[in-house]
Amino acid sequence: MAGDPEVTLSICLRCRDGREQRDSDLAQRGGRRLANAIAAQFDASEAARLGVRLRGVNCMSQCKRPCVVALSGAGRFTYLFGDLDPASHRPEVLAVAAAYAQAEGGFLPRSARPRVLQAGILGRIPPFGFAGDLVEPLATTFSTQTEETCDP
Ligand code: FES
Repeated sequence: MAGDPEVTLSICLRCRDGREQRDSDLAQRGGRRLANAIAAQFDASEAARLGVRLRGVNCMSQCKRPCVVALSGAGRFTYLFGDLDPASHRPEVLAVAAAYAQAEGGFLPRSARPRVLQAGILGRIPPFGFAGDLVEPLATTFSTQTEETCDP
């Protein structure tokens, strides 16, 4: 949906990618370099045209899978991705942000994500109130699902 002001691309600023000269220099962290690379191209991107907002986050608690980004929005699925290379994955992050902004409810099937964001998915959380096969109300549900249906 074009111009949706609720869609946010969050980028962890503290992730280390092993290229840091000094661990104490936060400006050299892989996450900061990924954020800088994305920010430098953001205004000209399809994601920006679609109203995606950009923000940095000082750790998203997935530090063992750097670099990390997330997509979120009111009434939308939330996605968390890791294993991103700040030197090369800027185009994929911007592409998935644009796809997310246009996806109904923010739902992105595996095939709709660039390959690195298929392999690097860390989380997919349905929005509150979501009604569909992915969610089961547990308070009154005691049956056991016998068939796996998973498309992470
Ligand atoms: S430092 Fe990036 S997720 Fe913790």
